[in-house]
Amino acid sequence: MSAPTRLAPLLTVLIGLLALAPAPAATAAGRCGAHPWCDTRLSPDRRADLLIAAMTPAERLGLLGGDNLTGVLGGEHAHTGTGDGVPRLDIPTIRYTDGPQGPRQGRTTGLPAPLALAATWSPRLARAYGAVVGQEARSKGNDVVFGPNVNILRTPLNGRTFEAYGEDPFLDSRMGVGWIEGAQGQGVIADVKHFALNNQEGYSAAANESRPGQPLGPPPTEGGRMLVNVTAAERTLREVELPAFEAAVKEAHVGTVMCSYNRVGGTYACQNPHLLTGILGGWGFRGYVLSDYAAVHDLAPSLKAGLDFEPWPGTTFGPLRVTAALLAGEITQGDVDRAVHRQLRTLFAYGVFDREAYRDDDAQIPKARHAATARTVEENALTLLVNRHRTLPLDARKLHSVALIGGGIDRFVTGGGSGNVTPFATTTLVDAVRRRVGPGVAVRADDGTDPARAAALARRSDVAIVATPDYLTEGSDRACLTLECPPVYGDQDGLIRAVAAANRRTVVVLETGGPVLTPWRGQVAGLLEAWYPGQEGGGAIARVLFGDADPGGRLPATFPASPGQEPTAGDPRRYPGVGEQETYSEGLLVGYRWWNAKHLRPAFPFGFGLSYTRFALGRPRVQAVGRRRYDVTVPVRNTGRRTGRVVPQLYLSHPPGSGEPVRQLAAFAKARLGVGRRAPLHLRLSSRAFEVWSESRNAWVLDPGRYRLSVGVSSRWLARTVTLWVR
Ligand code: BGC
Repeated sequence: MSAPTRLAPLLTVLIGLLALAPAPAATAAGRCGAHPWCDTRLSPDRRADLLIAAMTPAERLGLLGGDNLTGVLGGEHAHTGTGDGVPRLDIPTIRYTDGPQGPRQGRTTGLPAPLALAATWSPRLARAYGAVVGQEARSKGNDVVFGPNVNILRTPLNGRTFEAYGEDPFLDSRMGVGWIEGAQGQGVIADVKHFALNNQEGYSAAANESRPGQPLGPPPTEGGRMLVNVTAAERTLREVELPAFEAAVKEAHVGTVMCSYNRVGGTYACQNPHLLTGILGGWGFRGYVLSDYAAVHDLAPSLKAGLDFEPWPGTTFGPLRVTAALLAGEITQGDVDRAVHRQLRTLFAYGVFDREAYRDDDAQIPKARHAATARTVEENALTLLVNRHRTLPLDARKLHSVALIGGGIDRFVTGGGSGNVTPFATTTLVDAVRRRVGPGVAVRADDGTDPARAAALARRSDVAIVATPDYLTEGSDRACLTLECPPVYGDQDGLIRAVAAANRRTVVVLETGGPVLTPWRGQVAGLLEAWYPGQEGGGAIARVLFGDADPGGRLPATFPASPGQEPTAGDPRRYPGVGEQETYSEGLLVGYRWWNAKHLRPAFPFGFGLSYTRFALGRPRVQAVGRRRYDVTVPVRNTGRRTGRVVPQLYLSHPPGSGEPVRQLAAFAKARLGVGRRAPLHLRLSSRAFEVWSESRNAWVLDPGRYRLSVGVSSRWLARTVTLWVR
């Protein structure tokens, strides 16, 4: 017997004795100190109770409002918000930053826009994306990051379309959950926003003409987010608008929720008991609610409805106002303590007391690794919509000259407002194409401001690539869906037509924040939607154009054939509202649900996107894996000649008479397969897919009967259908 083996029984006994001995007080290594509430064996609730008992009334109410007015302007080392702590009790100062695309605080990795992330249809990439944002928020000294934005794309006119995840509640939920898990896995607290029904900014002529980087003009004249009162049926709320918030709370355990500017059912969201107490409480939300910036109107109704923190300007929830309200009997100490408790218990639960403060130092950011994530996300987001005569991918060996035209060929294209970021570096499309084709191919660039000049260049080139951006921003909706709205980059539709007339091999690369009109789509050889492609966008686009990567994106939103097709078109009461009153009378028919119900043909349907290869989908096999939970296995085979990405999508049709839309996305998968390779892909159906919101019972109820499960590669191209009885 060797010595270690002989010692083993002795060690076992010793370990057993140690386990029986009373544990030393488990105080954390962090900045909590040696107070009773620093015992990490206690529950977060208990720790919060102990701490509150030690606080003076003034210290308690001091936690309700934010303490920094200027950080919101952005800039190096400027936190978007700050909540000062209490040094006497070692309560740490909490720092907040925007946003869904990365910290708005100096430079960051310029990720593709969140809508591009949705186009990847990859929860795995959503997690990776959230992890990049979380790591960078932490490296810049923040505890909480204001993201993700999961508001549904109800109209693509919304100025914030680029910031969120498109028109489908299920895809929205998967992206939001991935993002939050990724970010919170980095030790910061996420903040899901904007709760709720904040689906438009309102149109302001002056603001709509704003240029990247410029301040916004005057606020909108109709349907502005600060005033608009949204009326929607509870079923619409639960089934369309809120699933991503519900998943954020129940699945991803998001630490904070941001209430929105607008009114819902006559009451401002930040003082809306139905939203903040009824719905959040019903989901078992254990974090705290904070308000959007300047979204708080009245102290007492907000505090009583469940708002816990006003980050900015911190005046309605500021010490003066709160003290006066206590004296006047408008609020009670119990109201204050409840909000403070919810803040503190969250901070304990997420370990904020039990670690050191995060340092603000960009040197902690693994920039190369994060840049690689940005590129992978973009490759998976690039959505190929037209590919005539197999023009793409381009073969660099067969080209002598390439014309690169338009406002998107040499700049970092992104949106404005709190979703705006300043990238560490930018790979432009011109540079990336030059590098890719090598010195033997002449790459000539034209900014596209003179269509005749651009067409002349296209005429003497083997291929013409036209990259057309747009500029969406918080604070204003766009006036229309053409590439001229807003008119930042000139007559881009005219430019595309002129170039396409001059060169049959014209490929358009859209760098837009959302769906746009594509009236020339029948005249171009290729159309690739790149979204706001992020700092690595140039390289990713070049890789897809030249076939080094398969275009991995699928549309997270319908591209209309005409503006009148939009669910919100034609009735101002539906959008943008009349006299600041707006009704979601489309009900459940948001996005492709509307196109299906009205038998409209969009330019490009939700879920659509071409690959360079071909895939065969086999017959789905449905297997129960739990109570009303199913695994749907779809055999997929790459029957083409290149490695490619496939995104099988499962649309569910409820039994007739249920009042549900014709078909709804209920599961999807994504895979990359080599030539000739086959794989069984697993699409998981959760029990929620078979439930509808009952207004009479105020609950989700099973919708029993015969379901149709259609599997295909877009909401319109469905190859296989099977039926399933659910009881
Ligand atoms: C936006 C929020 C943002 C906040 C702070 C508001 O205008 O609506 O999304 O987090 O500003 O920048």
